[in-house]
Amino acid sequence: MILQSTTNEPSEAEPARAEPGPTGQIDGVDLQSLAQQVQTPFYAYSATAIRQRIAELQAALHGLDALVCFAVKANSNIAVLRLMHECGVGADIVSAGELRRSLHAGIPAARIVFSGVGKREEEIAEALAAGVSRFNVESRDELEMLQRLAHAQQLTAHAAVRINPDVDARTHAKISTGRAQNKFGVSVVEARSWFADATMFPNVRLDGLHVHIGSQILGLDPFKRALGRVARFWRELELQGHEIDSIDVGGGLGVRYRSRDKPVATRDYVDVIRDAFAGFPGRIVLEPGRWLVAEAGVLLTRVIRVKPGSRREFLVVDAAMNDLLRPSLYDAWHDIVPVSAMPGPVAAYDIVGPVCETGDTFALARDLPVCAAGDLLTINGAGAYGASMASNYNSRPLVAEVLLDNGRYAIVRRRQTFDDMIAGEQFPEDWRSA
Ligand code: LLP
Repeated sequence: MILQSTTNEPSEAEPARAEPGPTGQIDGVDLQSLAQQVQTPFYAYSATAIRQRIAELQAALHGLDALVCFAVKANSNIAVLRLMHECGVGADIVSAGELRRSLHAGIPAARIVFSGVGKREEEIAEALAAGVSRFNVESRDELEMLQRLAHAQQLTAHAAVRINPDVDARTHAKISTGRAQNKFGVSVVEARSWFADATMFPNVRLDGLHVHIGSQILGLDPFKRALGRVARFWRELELQGHEIDSIDVGGGLGVRYRSRDKPVATRDYVDVIRDAFAGFPGRIVLEPGRWLVAEAGVLLTRVIRVKPGSRREFLVVDAAMNDLLRPSLYDAWHDIVPVSAMPGPVAAYDIVGPVCETGDTFALARDLPVCAAGDLLTINGAGAYGASMASNYNSRPLVAEVLLDNGRYAIVRRRQTFDDMIAGEQFPEDWRSA
């Protein structure tokens, strides 16, 4: 088996996920021997699992004029972006850096959409010159800037208004984006005024709507409510003669981090889109990030030592919050599994990294087979918002990323060296006045 399922349910009903099974393999690659060749901690992504996710989503979208644009922020490695491109997937970007990565990986500008509340002038200019297909505009000021820059380049930009539908995504507050008090998008009232003033923006074709209400959404209701509001607004615009060519439904589909998480079925999610926009003649854009890659990746880490504690033992591992921030930042749960567990006694551990913060904790009181220094573990569900959110905190080098594909592996990011880490820093020998 290349891919394992954690449940007893039939595996064909489950979206692809990469976790070491009893064989200690992911995507046909033996993790123990991989960890002999690549220094831990490192990320490993299953190309097969990513392809299967894309295929499942594309199958569910059958018959719709739909473009899937991967949210690059979820996993920005150029090899992952190349894989997306090979499968016909475009990119949802939020910075010039993500634009350059996407183009570098071969994703054509015609399949790139540019989102984000704080696009800077030079980023908009660069994206216009590259020919990105659409700007998801989040404020009147940005719309005016887009007009000015498109005029300067003698171009017509395609723009979508990001609607803030004031819907509760029922997810973690830090990753909820669709409430009126959040910084994202504009109200329907505000959007209406942009369409009314469309002639003031001759270099912008305001012919799209966009919505994204949050991430790790595990129910259909928030999607139904948000898309319902956007659909009502689209019908209103249509009656007024404003032609809408594209509706971008954002990302947000949740994944299973622990067995009690029940992600929505892909087909049911797509049916919500089909229902909301029945009769819409244009293109539907989707911006999934997490759903495509989270469960395709693991973070491999070794136990440095087992340290006695006042309540229970600490498992001090070589990965830390700078490598995978989600547990510290969102109290997120990730399954943690020994790669070659033998049947035997179990102990409850606090699993912590070497960083000098109490928040550098991956799990509290987690039951694991009794572990010893040197044991190899996987932290599962780490393919999204793992490497892409990593930092050099505590002067720890960014870790390697490895792509696995049907029995083979390739290092797609080498571990940072000390020289890489301090590149750009210098002693203050060149003092100037400003
Ligand atoms: N589109 C827009 C405009 C977004 O802001 C996002 C994510 C996505 C699409 C993709 O959402 P997804 O399908 O991945 O849910 N660091 C957090 C997640 C932050 C999501 C930010 N925006 C985490 O680790 O949970």
